[in-house]
Amino acid sequence: MKFIFGLVLMVLALGGFGGWQHMGAQALPQPSAASTPKQAAVASPQLASNQEINDRLEKQILDRIAGHENEPAEQVFKNIQIPCLKGTRATRLLLVMNLGYARALGVNCTYCHVEQDFPSDDKRPKRAAREMAAMHRMIDDRLKKMQNLEPSPNRAINCSTCHRGAVDPMATDR
Ligand code: HEC
Ligand code: HEC
Repeated sequence: MKFIFGLVLMVLALGGFGGWQHMGAQALPQPSAASTPKQAAVASPQLASNQEINDRLEKQILDRIAGHENEPAEQVFKNIQIPCLKGTRATRLLLVMNLGYARALGVNCTYCHVEQDFPSDDKRPKRAAREMAAMHRMIDDRLKKMQNLEPSPNRAINCSTCHRGAVDPMATDR
C-alpha cells in the first residue's frame, strides 16, 4: 500500500522535470532521492493517527472494565488463549496490545479486531497474531538454550524485533 502510494508520489515528483527515464528505479529496494522525503512525510501522520485511534480504543475498554483492571486478563476478557497473556493483569494486556502488537505492526486495533466485538476471532490477522505469539515463544525458548552467547538472564525478542512498524517484515518498500 505504502509502496503504491510512494510510487504515485514519485511519478508526480518526477513528472515535473520529465523524469520518465528514471522509472526503472521504482523496482529497486533503494528509494530514489526524489521519493525519500515525501514517503517520510506521508508515513508520520499515518503513525500518529494510528496511535490516536489505539489510545482511544484502549481508553474505551479501560472504562468498560473499571474496577477489574488488576484482575487476570482471562477473567476480565472472554477469549484469551495465548499462554503468556493468561495471568497477566487486564491493564497490562491492553498495554501489550497498544504498545506491543499494534505499534510493532504500525496498525490500529481494528487491523486485528472487529471494533464492536474485540473477543471475536473473525479477522485473519488476529488469528495470525496468535500463531506469531507461539513462534515468538519458541524463539525465546531456543535463545535461552543457546550455549555460545554471553550470559544474560532476560534475553528475549519481541514483535518489533522483526516487524519494526510494518505488517510484512520482508517487504522491500520500507
Ligand atoms: C496484531 C493483531 C492485534 C492488534 C493490532 C491488536 N490486538 Fe488485541 N488481541 C489480539 C489477539 C491475538 C488477541 C487474543 C489473545 C489471546 O488469545 O490470548 C487479542 C485480545 C484482545 C482483547 C481481549 C478480548 C476478549 O474479550 O477476549 C482486547 C480487549 C484487545 N485485544 C484489545 C486490543 C486493543 C485495544 C488494541 C489496539 C490498541 C488491540 N487489541 C490491537 C491481536 C491484536
Ligand atoms: C521472527 C520474526 C517475527 C516475529 C518475532 C514476529 N513476526 Fe509477525 N510476521 C513475521 C513474518 C515473516 C510474517 C509474514 C509476512 C507476510 O508474508 O505477509 C508475519 C506476519 C504477521 C501477521 C500477519 C499480517 C497479515 O496481515 O498477514 C501478524 C498479524 C503478525 N505477524 C503479528 C505478530 C505479532 C503480534 C508478533 C509478536 C507476538 C509477531 N508478529 C512477531 C515475522 C515475525
